Amino acid sequence: MKKVYIETYGCQMNEYDTELIRSILKANNYEFTDSQQNADVVFLNTCAIRENAHSKIYGRLGEIKHLKERNRNVVVGLLGCMSQNLRGNLKRQEELVDIFAGPDSYKRLPAMIESVLTKGGKKYDFALSEFEDYGDVYPQRVPGVNAWIAVMRGCDNFCTFCVVPYTRGRERSRSPENVVAEVQRLAEERFKQVTLLGQNVNSYRADGYDFADLMMMVSEVDGIERIRFTSPHPKDFPDKFLEVMADNPKICNHIHLPLQAGNNRILEQMARTYTKQSFLQLVDKIRDKIPNVALTTDVIVGFSSETDADFEDTFEVMETVEFDLAFIFKYSERENTIADRKFSDDVPPHKKTERIVRLNELQKRISLRKNQAVIGQSFEVLVEGPSKKNPNEWMGRTDGNKIVIFERGPFKAGDIIETEIVDATANTLFGKHDLSAHTSARHALPILHETN
Ligand code: SAH
Ligand code: SF4
Ligand code: F3S
Repeated sequence: MKKVYIETYGCQMNEYDTELIRSILKANNYEFTDSQQNADVVFLNTCAIRENAHSKIYGRLGEIKHLKERNRNVVVGLLGCMSQNLRGNLKRQEELVDIFAGPDSYKRLPAMIESVLTKGGKKYDFALSEFEDYGDVYPQRVPGVNAWIAVMRGCDNFCTFCVVPYTRGRERSRSPENVVAEVQRLAEERFKQVTLLGQNVNSYRADGYDFADLMMMVSEVDGIERIRFTSPHPKDFPDKFLEVMADNPKICNHIHLPLQAGNNRILEQMARTYTKQSFLQLVDKIRDKIPNVALTTDVIVGFSSETDADFEDTFEVMETVEFDLAFIFKYSERENTIADRKFSDDVPPHKKTERIVRLNELQKRISLRKNQAVIGQSFEVLVEGPSKKNPNEWMGRTDGNKIVIFERGPFKAGDIIETEIVDATANTLFGKHDLSAHTSARHALPILHETN
């Protein structure tokens, strides 16, 4: 059996795609290895969202060059968004790569590897499909607490800064039956949480069902305790969806609501379809319908023509909304996007840095204040496993997706435990588990299992 080594970059959708690739290759008699030295095939599943995503891969290809010098037969493949974006036109190290494939080409990977191994030469496949949803492939997941599941793929929004509509093609949704059948299988495999994925997850639409309908159907699957979703677009928040979220205890009270910018002219230039005012109204509506909801966001600083005064609008929205967490990025112009063709990347780098520093400082203060405000309160925490830093400490997440660190105890990954928060930083809560409170857990399930 040939051995495949695969590294994944980018977002959760790419993590999920790697699980699809594993499944497709396994069905074709490949096995997987954690060691690139022993691999017959080395795949990088890449991202193109910002220039630094590309740079990372160029860096990795530089290292893989040495691997190929030692073993000339190793097949190197560049998969995913960067591959699709560049279509084989790498600026460097092009000769190293044998296979170039985009996100809709993964079912053809076994044939591509076969061809390179038997005939040599290079293989390219950048066919984007309006229909490919991989609904007939059951991903090979790493066992754990959370399972990713893509319910839709692609994006039709064409935000002017964004490369995703070009790397992942048109929006398409999987049928609800197909999604629910996969979630049922996940429950049988003892996954406790599913995260429904899509570049634009709340514009899900299939067979006359919308995202709210899908959420309801998924929540009826026994054994799944928590349902999350990412990333929604602020344009698709009908009341019905918020009501389903509010009424359904399995759907976590967390919405990742990408703001991108707070200035109306910039928002229009980005083609985001909302204004500062309508975004703030949406936040009010969400908080009104779902009290205690955690809100997180993405922001881009230094988009084309953004002035200091424009930036202050973004600052103001962040100050007003008080997100729980924010991912803030410097604008990175992507080739052939609408912004690349129509506008210029004219905000000087030092301005971008100044703005990102200011927003990060603001957000850190807000996150710290919000986290410290819950000291003394108790939360149900879904246990994920030992913390990365200290194996004697364990970590889990609240319903609002906050990380909680607590002492190891008589529980295992997948259990839901009651935890009292005793300390907090901007990114982490520290808890004390109260095992006596178990019987009052929300789902009244036997959540404390024997450790094994
Ligand atoms: N579909 C998701 C976005 C996926 S990309 C959504 O609409 O929310 C994740 C984040 O990367 C985006 O929200 C945006 O903040 C950021 N991003 C996208 N393109 C970018 C670019 N050209 N430069 C800097 N940040 C970018
Ligand atoms: Fe990109 Fe906008 Fe689509 Fe998100 S919604 S993937 S930012 S084009
Ligand atoms: Fe990157 Fe593609 Fe995801 S560009 S962020 S891997 S959709």
